[in-house]
Amino acid sequence: MKEELFLTIFALLNFASAEYYGIKLGKLKNDTYGISGAVYFANESLFQIVDFSIDSLPDLELRFFFSDAESSHPAAGLYQILSSPGGEYTKKLKKGSVEAGFSNARLLVAIPKLPNITWTHFGIATQKSWKYLAALKLKKSSLKPFCCISNPQTSSRGIIGKHYQVGTAPIVVLDSRTILLPSFSFKGTSPPDGWVYAGIGKTIDQNTGLKAMVLGRDTPER
Ligand SMILES: *[C@@H]1O[C@H](CO)[C@@H](O)[C@H](O)[C@H]1NC(C)=O
Ligand SMILES: *[C@@H]1O[C@H](CO)[C@@H](O)[C@H](O)[C@H]1NC(C)=O
Ligand SMILES: *[C@@H]1O[C@H](CO)[C@@H](O)[C@H](O)[C@H]1NC(C)=O
Repeated sequence: MKEELFLTIFALLNFASAEYYGIKLGKLKNDTYGISGAVYFANESLFQIVDFSIDSLPDLELRFFFSDAESSHPAAGLYQILSSPGGEYTKKLKKGSVEAGFSNARLLVAIPKLPNITWTHFGIATQKSWKYLAALKLKKSSLKPFCCISNPQTSSRGIIGKHYQVGTAPIVVLDSRTILLPSFSFKGTSPPDGWVYAGIGKTIDQNTGLKAMVLGRDTPER
């Protein structure tokens, strides 16, 4: 039987050394209402807001909104990421929960998908008078790669492998679905087979992990 070698990529990385929230889009800020927070593009359907604070403003009917020149739409969903002894979990929030105030919260905001609309702004608005209290401009060009996830022991390296000379320079996150492994080395002719695996935790679990596809080799379109 053919033995498979699983590159223990994520086992060797300590993500706490560079917490990755997504691609940074900008900040929400308005001192009058105690609003602050950093907004990230987490994936195609979600924004993530880190260190989000806002005063309690019960009278304003606040919502997260997306808009372009002609239209606006409330967020398709709002969630809070909370910690517990068992780990992080996600709680769905009700409409209007922004009005109660937050202090250094971590939120997920679902992006409304409407045909032929590219949102140009995102922020917190009052439904009453439709006015942004804090907003940021969404520019395509602001979607820059995240650089870099480096090894906690050696910041000039990404993966430092145990076998077959596996190694990379610090890892670049290109988008929500793609990572770049610069200076990738692997004595590929020696082991029986090799895969890049992504998963959570310190050991690679074939059942819960996912085999990554290599662009140009495993994907038909590139
Ligand atoms: C975005 O991330 C959420 C949470 O991890 C996940 O449920 C959702 O399927 C993702 N969406 C896309 C388009 O990748
Ligand atoms: C949306 O765009 C497509 C192609 O770009 C077009 O065929 C369609 O008529 C548009 N729909 C609306 C509602 O404007
Ligand atoms: C806060 O928001 C209000 C309402 O949009 C606006 O008039 C005011 O200029 C903002 N203040 C700051 C500091 O951004």
